[in-house]
Formats: sequence, structure tokens, C-alpha cells
Amino acid sequence: MTTGEQQPIQWRSLASAGQVARHAARMIGEAAGRAIEARGRFSLVLAGGTTPRELYRLLAQSDQRWEAWRLYYGDERCLPPDDPGRNSRMVAGTGLAALAGEHHPIPAELGPVAGAAAYAPTVGDALPFDLVLLGVGEDGHTASLFPGHHHPADTLVVPVHDAPKPPPERVSLSVAALAACRRMIVMATGAGKAEALRRWRAGEALPVAEVTAAARGEVSVLMAVPDDSSGIP
Ligand code: 6PG
Repeated sequence: MTTGEQQPIQWRSLASAGQVARHAARMIGEAAGRAIEARGRFSLVLAGGTTPRELYRLLAQSDQRWEAWRLYYGDERCLPPDDPGRNSRMVAGTGLAALAGEHHPIPAELGPVAGAAAYAPTVGDALPFDLVLLGVGEDGHTASLFPGHHHPADTLVVPVHDAPKPPPERVSLSVAALAACRRMIVMATGAGKAEALRRWRAGEALPVAEVTAAARGEVSVLMAVPDDSSGIP
């Protein structure tokens, strides 16, 4: 982990979403090996949405020292635990959740405020994370940190109301919690993400820009944007 100075983001444009998943799987496997060697455990914050599903399937098929893996979530939707819209349900469906020595889903079924309060000690005990995995929305959101939403800077887990991406109620790790990591990987695939990438690269203060700028470790952005209008050379 760096001593505080922000390292330049590593932007990596790949040919397809499949290549993004395979590249991310390799990076995560390497980070896990280093972390387990150094500290006997690997703490990974999982991204929600649909982009990481193939990555999680690849990881679940790989050979890892699973007993040392500790899985956390960057955000969760306030739905019942078995609801197909839950990020934890998506992860379970890939086989990854059952392999890890520790799996810490966010109790978002309690609602935004109670869910955030219940998860905060889990996050506090885990920091700094070894690796934080994030997606990015078409509006530049990441985890459940949305444009125009403001959260207290000194909290680790925040309640989210009126999210523009359904469902409206969520629980999210804060900028500070997501940034407290040794490594951060953002995945962005599909033409729908081109505009967010372009705005991010142009310097707009999007939530994904704020989180990655605050990151204490190395940040890599893995992209597969068909027309590559993301402005990446
Ligand atoms: C969520 C995610 C969210 C997601 C982005 C990208 O709960 O919705 O955490 O931040 O990562 O919206 O979603 P896709 O991967 O489905 O494009």
C-alpha cells in the first residue's frame, strides 16, 4: 500500500468482456498469493451487478488456498437474501461464495440504515482490504455511490436511498472504506460504459473518479468498450 500519494491509474483496454474477466482473474489470483504469503489471508471486496459474474465463475474454477480467502461486498441491494436481484445471490450462483474460508454478505435485508450499521464493524475489522473490485455504472456510479448523493466522510458503510438504479434502497461501502485497500480493480465492459469512461478521463468528479482517486493502493481499470470511445489511446 502506498504511503498516501496517489499513484497514476493503469488504464487497460482489452478486446472483450471475456478478456477482462480472464485478466482480472489472473490479477486477483496473483494478489491473493502475495497477501496469503505476507499475512496468511486475502481480503477481497466483491463488485455487484452483472459485469463480474464471469470473473467469479473463473475464480471459482481456479486453484486457490480458499481457506485463507475472506469475501466482502462493496454494496448490496435492500432485498430479501434469496432475491435474484441480490449481489450475494449472484456471487453464490457462480460457486465462489461457498469456497471462501469467510464470506461476509451485507445484511441489506435489514434496510439501508440498519444494514449499514450492522456491516460497519465487519468492515472496520477487515481494513485495509487486500483488493477492492468495482464496477462502474453508465452515470459514473460505483458500488452504490451515485452522482448527487452525499455521505458523511467519516463513515465506513452508508445507507442509500433513492438510488437511480433499482432498487432504490441499498447499502454501500463509503469512499473511505473502498479506498482503504492495497489494490483496486475497476471493470467496465460494453458500449454503455463508454460515456462514463470518457467523462471520467475528462476529469469529471464522478463517484468512480472520487473512489479511485482516494485509493491508497494501485488502481487498474480494465475496459472492453466496443467503439473504444473512452478516449484511451
Ligand atoms: C450494483 C453494483 C453496481 C454495478 C454497476 C455496474 O449493485 O448494481 O454494485 O455498482 O457495479 O452498476 O453494473 P453492471 O456490471 O451490471 O453493468
